[in-house]
Amino acid sequence: MTLETEAQLEALRKIGKIVANCLQHMAQTLEPGMSTRELDACATRFLDLHGARSAPRLVYNFPGTTCISVNRAVAHGIPGEQKLMAGDLVNIDVSAELDGFFADTGSSFIVPPASPLKTQICQATREALETAMKQVRSGENLHVIGRAIEKVAARHSLSVIRNLGSHGVGRALHEEPRFIPPYFDGRDRRRLHENMVITIEPFLSNGAREVETADDGWTLLTPEPYLAAQYEHTMVITRGEPIILTYPDAV
Ligand code: CO
Ligand code: CO
Repeated sequence: MTLETEAQLEALRKIGKIVANCLQHMAQTLEPGMSTRELDACATRFLDLHGARSAPRLVYNFPGTTCISVNRAVAHGIPGEQKLMAGDLVNIDVSAELDGFFADTGSSFIVPPASPLKTQICQATREALETAMKQVRSGENLHVIGRAIEKVAARHSLSVIRNLGSHGVGRALHEEPRFIPPYFDGRDRRRLHENMVITIEPFLSNGAREVETADDGWTLLTPEPYLAAQYEHTMVITRGEPIILTYPDAV
């Protein structure tokens, strides 16, 4: 969406803070031996408490409140009986709606002990998000996002998952621009404009370039033996730095 009023910005700030704090709460709760369903139940309670509704459940009838994806699963993982184990790479993606406004955030975590490879993938992916966030401003091409993500991946000798993109958000979970590529495409002439609301969400891997859908119809998997991490924020484009809506409160 493109924001038109201060009240819309306030509404987005509110849901942005809720999803960010929900993710933070889950990260603090996460421990070995816990099932992904138990972790998801924390989010259900948290969103209920704040009057927000799970966006994947509301929009796509997803069988969970949040997406929790472990190891080769990198997105849209269904919370279930799987127990989190030492060394697992876990992605939690929280998106929710309040009063007709949507925000979307995600992070990857390593259940200790963290291997050097998983640590590297996580750090580089976070850096890709932060680097892309510094590039976006009104008037720029949308492809500055993909260019930044690709550059950071190359510097760390990692690959980019090409079939998962960033997207517009605000009045729906996914809206125009629907697919913001995580790679540079010079033919893509679309531009960023002031007050546009988007996510940026790179997925970097140690070799995978695409994900495929698992038999459950939801979970997105990297091909063996690759792993991937994702970090995501929702933001408003301005003439200067973007306004990041999904930073959690300091603890
Ligand atoms: Co998300
Ligand atoms: Co998203």
